[in-house]
Amino acid sequence: MDPLQWAIDPWGKVVPIHIAWFLIWVAAIAGLLFVIVHAIYVRYFAKPRQFGRYESPVVPAQIPEHVPRHSLTARAFHWIMAAAMFTLLFTAFLPKIGFQFDWVTYHWIAGTVLTISIIFHIIHASFFLDFWSIWPDKIDLRDAWRRTHRFMGKPAPPPERFAKYPLENKLYHGAIIAAGLTAIVTGVFMMSRVRTIFFPRNPYLFTDMTWGMMYVLHGLAGVGLIMLIMVHVYFGIRPEKRPITKAMIFGWMSRDFYLEEHDPQRWVVEGSTTAAAKSAGTPGQD
Ligand code: HEM
Repeated sequence: MDPLQWAIDPWGKVVPIHIAWFLIWVAAIAGLLFVIVHAIYVRYFAKPRQFGRYESPVVPAQIPEHVPRHSLTARAFHWIMAAAMFTLLFTAFLPKIGFQFDWVTYHWIAGTVLTISIIFHIIHASFFLDFWSIWPDKIDLRDAWRRTHRFMGKPAPPPERFAKYPLENKLYHGAIIAAGLTAIVTGVFMMSRVRTIFFPRNPYLFTDMTWGMMYVLHGLAGVGLIMLIMVHVYFGIRPEKRPITKAMIFGWMSRDFYLEEHDPQRWVVEGSTTAAAKSAGTPGQD
């Protein structure tokens, strides 16, 4: 089973033209398997989560009842991006599995929305939010080591509570960057193969081989996103993660949830006494 489709160019050279579309099913089944195995593991095998003690004592009254997590701008970005992403996935893959419609125009329009929203997000996150909050830090790596040891039944101290984002979310964000940027960069070039309002159509911009590789990369990023989005939606609706999803709708999470999972020293929230003490360098919310 060849994962790519090939053709012969006018000079008789064999060039790739697309990924083979059975990869859509491979990605969807892999996503589904992950969901099933994870759900069974959590339901029947996982031990309750344990964190180490706070380094310094925490006074709950110092934390606001509603802990601000995502600003209105950040939430608007998230949901616009989600709408664009679903439109892209459905317009790209429904015709490939038998639901024919004139998909290309809807697809490049959604692609343009996604591209603009991502450019906005990069500027917003770099200059107005706490840029480093989404990248793994030393404590995350040390705790990943501890968690792996404990998972295998070896002795290790419990991990600390999380900063704003747990390591898993940070790694997921990294995977989305890789797949999303690949789809965007190749997609912008591919717009010159179809009629759009942005630039004149020019299918001769690259050689057939380069175009072929570009379509293959676009397709691989696309099927990768099927898996990533399935897993993201699954975690979003899991009961223990719902407070995080609610925060993406309403902007805040409860003090109880915050104190259960987050370390006020690692994620200093606006309106807390810790924030007042550290006000010289209070991070923004994203
Ligand atoms: C979730 C993200 C995306 C997915 C899943 C996706 C998926 C796909 C797939 C499977 C194709 C068919 C490729 C082929 O025939 O080999 C395609 C075509 C295309 N994509 Fe995307 N894409 C995404 C993002 C984008 C973005 C961000 C843009 C533009 C900025 C874009 C622009 C295009 C264009 C113009 C075509 C049509 C090319 C043609 O028919 O010649 N895509 N996309």
